[in-house]
Amino acid sequence: MTAVTQKVVTLKDVKQERQAVELSSHVCEEIDELLSHFPVEQKKSALLGALNVVQHENKGFLTEELMVAVADYLDLAKIEVYEVASFYSMYELKPVARNNVAICTNICCMLMGSQSIVDHVEKKLNIKIGDSTDDGRIYLKKEEECLAACAGGPMMQVNHVYYENLTPEKVDEILDGLE
Ligand code: FES
Repeated sequence: MTAVTQKVVTLKDVKQERQAVELSSHVCEEIDELLSHFPVEQKKSALLGALNVVQHENKGFLTEELMVAVADYLDLAKIEVYEVASFYSMYELKPVARNNVAICTNICCMLMGSQSIVDHVEKKLNIKIGDSTDDGRIYLKKEEECLAACAGGPMMQVNHVYYENLTPEKVDEILDGLE
């Protein structure tokens, strides 16, 4: 009988096999500019901005490899970068569609009917909160906390633009205009 030897792949192996990535020269320039605003011993102050730049260049999401590259660039522990990236809702840790739609569902917007807007959008796009459309056009972000435009509720943020006093018709017009 022939013995079959099979290599057991451990989580450690998988992690070691991950390819290290380098930040692009453009990203490094942008991070250097951010760093110039802070004392040299406080590189962590540039972390939020650095993650914004990296995410923007990587089609709207961060990978573990990119977070490691940011940690190396800013002389931070990897866990420090991951803690920040996983805490703030503006960072995505998985691939998402190219247009980021975030409907505020916090108290003021909720009182002004945000749930009916969420229901309308989910039905229109045939996806649930947290999902992207199959055509890669729209990402319906997980429920968003107050976006500080309470007087204009219900409101949503599409990419970096605020839209207020939403109605289903207004939402249709905005979403239909996204490429
Ligand atoms: S509760 Fe929606 S913007 Fe403040």
